[in-house]
Amino acid sequence: MERTLIAVKNDGVQRGFIGDIVSRFERKGFRLVGLKMVKPTEEMAKQHYIDLKDLPFYGNLCKYTSSGPFVAMCWEGLNVVKTGREMLGETDPAKSKPGTIRGDLCVHIGRNLIHGSDGPETAKREVALWFKPEELVDWTSCAHTYLY
Ligand code: TYD
Repeated sequence: MERTLIAVKNDGVQRGFIGDIVSRFERKGFRLVGLKMVKPTEEMAKQHYIDLKDLPFYGNLCKYTSSGPFVAMCWEGLNVVKTGREMLGETDPAKSKPGTIRGDLCVHIGRNLIHGSDGPETAKREVALWFKPEELVDWTSCAHTYLY
């Protein structure tokens, strides 16, 4: 089963959107397998955004990411990486369609609320960066007693 890293970023937490974002992924039918709130170190932020290290906004992005709360989540489900990205909208909220998280809730590219892994390989790297294996729930080992 595919997994992805979804994170509510500093601005998204401060604006009170953790619940809305969790709810959208739950209602879509994905399963939450890991969840934690941290204030990342600048080193963690740099690792998280390592693919962007040569871009001019990298320094500011890492400072902003490490200057407040970050809610890291691992979600699991069929095509969760690609569908998760569609649920986010475009990187630039101004180009994001209504109905997407960024399209509905924000306007500024540098304050676009949420992170989502952009491919299956990135997802593996990012999930491993934020979670130890024992912090992720193996749903196949759980009795689904409460689902009906
Ligand atoms: P990126 O990985 O390109 O986008 P996404 O979050 O959609 O995967 O960029 C990471 C973050 O960097 C992005 O969410 C917001 C910020 N950013 C800027 O501040 N300015 C920019 O011009 C771009 C492209 C991104």
